[in-house]
Amino acid sequence: MKILAVAGSNSETSINKLLVSYAASLIENAEVEVVDMNDFEMPIYKHQREVESGLPQEAKDFVAKIDGANLLLVSLPEHNGTYSTAFKNVFDWVSRIKDRTVWNEVPMLLMSAAPGARGGAGVLEAATKRFPFHGGNIVETFSLPFFNDNFDKSAQKISNEEKDNELREKIKKIATIESILEK
Ligand SMILES: Cc1cc2nc3c(=O)[nH]c(=O)nc-3n(C[C@H](O)[C@H](O)[C@H](O)COP(=O)(O)O)c2cc1C
Repeated sequence: MKILAVAGSNSETSINKLLVSYAASLIENAEVEVVDMNDFEMPIYKHQREVESGLPQEAKDFVAKIDGANLLLVSLPEHNGTYSTAFKNVFDWVSRIKDRTVWNEVPMLLMSAAPGARGGAGVLEAATKRFPFHGGNIVETFSLPFFNDNFDKSAQKISNEEKDNELREKIKKIATIESILEK
C-alpha cells in the first residue's frame, strides 16, 4: 500500500506534519511519503500568471503524487477559521488542471491539529464540504485539539489515550477497505 501523507502547512515546525507522520506510522506494511506545502511552493495564484505561463511544475508534481497513492492522509492547519494560505494556493493551482479532479477519488483520512480547544473544526468543516467537489473521497475525519497537551513531541506520538485510540480505530477501519488493500 502506498500512502501519501500531506501536511497542509509550510511551517518548519508544523504540528500537522507531526500528526500526519504519526498517523502514517500506525499503518503496517505501507510505503509512506510525507510532503508539506514547502515541497510545492508556487507564486500566489493569479489569472494572468496562468494565462501567460501556464501551470507551475509543482502543481503537476502534487497531483502525480496523489495519483501514485492508494491512501491519502491529509492534515490541515487552521488559519483564521479556514485553510492556511500555503495550502489554499496549492489547492487553487491544482484545481486549474484540466480534465481531472484535485484528489482523484483516492480514499482520504482528513485531519487537523491545533493548539486550541476547537482542534481545527473550521478548516475541517470547510474541507469536508468542499473536497467532494474536487474528487475528495473522505472516509474518516480526525481532529486533535490542545496539541501541546495531547501529543508527545519527543516520543512522536499522541499522548492522550482516548484520542490515540480514536485515531487507531479509524485507521484500522480505513486500512481494511478492500479497494485500498487490493492495490
Ligand atoms: C495567521 C494565523 C491564524 C491562525 N488562526 C487559527 C484559527 O483560526 N484556529 C486555530 O485553532 N488556530 C489558529 N492559529 C494557530 C495554528 O493552529 C497554529 O499556528 C498551528 O501550529 C498551525 O499548524 P501547523 O503548525 O501545522 O502549521 C493561527 C495561526 C496563524 C499564524
